[in-house]
Amino acid sequence: MQNFELFTPTNYIFGKGQIEKLSKVIPQGAKILLAYGGGSIFKNGVHEQVIKSLEGYEIVEFGGIEPNPHFETLMKAVEVIKEKNLDFILAVGGGSVIDGVKFISVAVNFEGNPIDLLQKKAPITGTPVPFGTVLTLPATGSEMNSSTVVTIAKTQEKLSFGGPALYPQFSVCDPTTIASLPKRQIENGIVDAFTHVMEQYMTYPQDAYLQDRIAEGILQTLIEIGPKVVENPSDYKLASNFMWSCTMALNGLLNKGVITDWTTHMIGHELTALYGIDHARTLAIIAPNLYTVMFETKKEKLTQYGKRIFNLTGSDDEIAKEAINKTVEFFHLMGMDTKLSEYTEDYKKSADFIVERFENRGWKALGEKQNITPEKVHKIVEASY
Ligand code: NZQ
Ligand code: ZN
Repeated sequence: MQNFELFTPTNYIFGKGQIEKLSKVIPQGAKILLAYGGGSIFKNGVHEQVIKSLEGYEIVEFGGIEPNPHFETLMKAVEVIKEKNLDFILAVGGGSVIDGVKFISVAVNFEGNPIDLLQKKAPITGTPVPFGTVLTLPATGSEMNSSTVVTIAKTQEKLSFGGPALYPQFSVCDPTTIASLPKRQIENGIVDAFTHVMEQYMTYPQDAYLQDRIAEGILQTLIEIGPKVVENPSDYKLASNFMWSCTMALNGLLNKGVITDWTTHMIGHELTALYGIDHARTLAIIAPNLYTVMFETKKEKLTQYGKRIFNLTGSDDEIAKEAINKTVEFFHLMGMDTKLSEYTEDYKKSADFIVERFENRGWKALGEKQNITPEKVHKIVEASY
């Protein structure tokens, strides 16, 4: 196991009715920007609960943060905060709203053009505006991690950055908020969380027994509850296990002491930027092909995964190959199409486009063994057509 530091400062407030605790975790007298998305929070009563809990606070509302939040939209919120002298941000929504707020938080007092945080990975300067979240869509883990993903609409770039400043001060995670989610978003949430675990687990054996067992526990839970929670999101037993599993999949525990491989996400972000495909669906397209192209590197772990998750038997090679098939089967069960051509007719340009972008960014040796070369990326994308 590699050396590591574990720092998880987010106050994670879980369960039914917890939104009423907001006034206990936001400093009295704070002037709040309440940031949200396209309006789901008005239809499902979450907005009302938040406002009730924040009686007496000065609140300015900022709506319209779109899925795959746009830099251009977020900069408008930055202006509102400066203009009205606000000193706290509350994100109410899914990963896009939370990621958007993370960006807004550091952009307000950033010394320079905040686009550099994305395009040049410029170090964060200036004091970030403190923020907390109310999660309404389990998927990304953004509620308890320190990353953000933002799209620059103008250049069609979807870019991420992170750092300790991006941990929410608190996250209120009430599983009853998922009752209003469309099926598609629940399917997305399960597959996104599943792939987050896989990005940290599906490498090579690294003597991290506990991390492996935690990862496998999350995968098994997602397989167990996934199809059921899509059909019945009001079932608290299912909803609570779904929400907690998604947080645990990407809250900085599984990557401790191990080398990870985020290539599926890196390629997936390009597919969203190019074609507007939902984040999780891009992962379902890429992950199985990545495991196939990188079979020799990942074989031992694929075998472990096949035995422990799907109870497969046979030779190691047989088990490892069948484990990839089982993964695709699960993605199909979760409503995913797994071929790029099922989403767009314009797919043939993607392999060249993505490889060129990666080369321009200097991403020439990806993966846990740095052996995912531009040629391999090309192969993986082509295999996904
Ligand atoms: O905008 P509103 O009206 O709220 O509707 C949203 C949106 O249309 C809707 N929704 C959310 N909660 C709802 C609801 N509808 C009904 N009832 C509710 N309770 O769901 C739609 C999708 O929301 P979005 O926030 O975009 O989805 P998700 O949580 O999947 O977030 C995706 C974004 O997170 C990034 C992705 O790249 C993408 O931009 N990710 C962030 C990560 C991180 N920060 O660590 C890691 C992930 O790998 C991912 O990349
Ligand atoms: Zn993801």
